[in-house]
Formats: sequence, structure tokens, C-alpha cells
Amino acid sequence: MGGFLPLLDRGPTLPGRGRVTATAVVAPLLEVRGIDAAYGPLQVLFDVSLDVAVGGRTALLGTNGAGKSTLLKVVSGLVKPTAGTVRYGGRELASLSASARARAGMVQIAGGRATFPSLTVLDNLRVGAYPFIRDRKRVASRLEAVLEQFPMLRARLGQVAGTLSGGEQQIMALGRALVAGPELLLVDELSLGLAPVVMQDVLAMVDELTRRGTALLLVEQSLNVALGITDHAYFMERGSVRFSGPTGELLERTDLVRSVFFGTASPGGSKRSSGSAR
Ligand SMILES: Nc1ncnc2c1ncn2[C@@H]1O[C@H](COP(=O)(O)OP(=O)(O)OP(=O)(O)O)[C@@H](O)[C@H]1O
Ligand SMILES: [Mg+2]
Repeated sequence: MGGFLPLLDRGPTLPGRGRVTATAVVAPLLEVRGIDAAYGPLQVLFDVSLDVAVGGRTALLGTNGAGKSTLLKVVSGLVKPTAGTVRYGGRELASLSASARARAGMVQIAGGRATFPSLTVLDNLRVGAYPFIRDRKRVASRLEAVLEQFPMLRARLGQVAGTLSGGEQQIMALGRALVAGPELLLVDELSLGLAPVVMQDVLAMVDELTRRGTALLLVEQSLNVALGITDHAYFMERGSVRFSGPTGELLERTDLVRSVFFGTASPGGSKRSSGSAR
């Protein structure tokens, strides 16, 4: 592969702390503790806790409507929790807006769609460089590194993003995240609607990014995808974490994954079984 080094030229840094040192690595990059969240009167997250290590690769799996996307939005600042804390690099984030969190190195991409369908591919990619847009050299080198990796994007720089195919939009959205060179990448539904051949490209892209030190929190429907690119997994059901452990161990937890991957879930999530380990 190659061509990615300029993307992470600043190295992993923690807000307010400078570069990560050997002693700081033991603390998680992202620390979510006791989160409750609600939409109006409807509570959808109940005491959710989750960690992502510095450079860690973590999957968030679960039943439909379990609250995975909501949790991701709590982390990126799009949904305000009613209880609990989110710490990033040791710093409490409650007072930080979504854009300030992005500037601190946290980038969220929603799977399957372009954020700015009426803008060209080039302008969409430039949005990723927004936090350092005045540094023209850096913008150019980041863009070049992404275009080198994805010639498909170079060929379509002038195309209006809304006219890209679904798979192309997904690659563009990921390309925009790569331009940003995030320290923590939050992805909702990487594999949604992607043909297997496109999925291979996208997986290679994410894999490369994590090998270069970007931490990943990946919401996924596909256990196979999660097994391929994450080491640790959380499984949520009806707003609560039901499992936390190595992603591979989920294969043995048929009580949990069967409901999702073999379609036996009841609407809104399968029934809680008593005594099930977290
Ligand atoms: N903006 C909203 N207003 C009201 N309710 C919402 C809103 N967004 C989500 N919900 C509800 O919150 C619950 C959790 O939704 P969320 O999107 O977080 O689940 P999810 O785990 O991502 O599900 P899926 O796997 O289907 O994407 C669901 O019951 C959903 O209907
Ligand atoms: Mg979702």
C-alpha cells in the first residue's frame, strides 16, 4: 500500500497533553462511563460504558434499535447524554461541541452516504481538511496521499458527489476521514449496502489506517467484518451492553449473536435473558 504516511504526520496526540508517551498509553484514548441518553421521554441508553485504547480497534455490535448509533453520536457530540461522562485523552468532553471534538482528532463517518451530495468529490474531500484548512501544504499532501490510494476518487474529483454510486460514496466518505488523519475514527455501518468487492477495498483502507495508529470504533451489522478489522467488541441490546471481550469470543456467544445474525430478534431487540454475562 503506502502513501499514507503524510496522513498521520502529526503522530498520535492527545488534546491538552501533547504526544502520547509510553506511560500515557495505558490510559484508554476514549473512556465512556455510565451513559444514559434519551430522545424526549424515550430513554434509549442505560448506563453504557465502553473503552477504546490508543490505536485500539473496537467493534460495537448489537440488535437493531439497541442504541449503537446513538452511542456513537454521544461520543461525537451530536447527542447530549442525560447521565454519564465521555473522556477523550483523559479530558472530559461534555463542554466540547461536535466540531471541537473533530478538531481534537475525532472523526465520525456515517456509512453509505455522502454528507454533501451537491458538492463535488474534491470539495467533499476538502471538508476533511477543515480543521487545518489554512495550512495549504498540509491540505495538499493529505489530499494527494488519499488520491494516490484511491485512483477512483481522482478520476471523479469534479463529479457531484450525489451522483456517485453507493459504494463510491462510501469510499469518498472514508477518503474524507483519511484526509482529516484522525486519531479516533468513528464509523457507523461500514458494510451497509456495499458489494463484497467494494467492501474489500474499504476494509483494506480501514486496516491501513489502523495499522498507522488511528484508533477505531466501528458500529457494524456484519460479524465477519468486525472479526476482520477489530480486536475487541461490545454487544448491545435494548440500550445496554451485554458483552465486552475479544471479538472472536462473540462467535461462541450464540445466545447473543444468533438474534442478530440469524434473524430471530424480536422487534426492538431480543428478550433479555437473565444471568447473561456482560
Ligand atoms: N432522533 C430520534 N428521535 C427519536 N427516537 C430515536 C431517534 N434516533 C433514534 N431513536 C430511537 O432510539 C433507539 C436507538 O436507535 P439507534 O439508531 O441508536 O439504534 P441502532 O443500534 O443504531 O440500530 P440499527 O442497528 O437499526 O442502526 C431506537 O429505538 C430508535 O427508534
Ligand atoms: Mg444504527
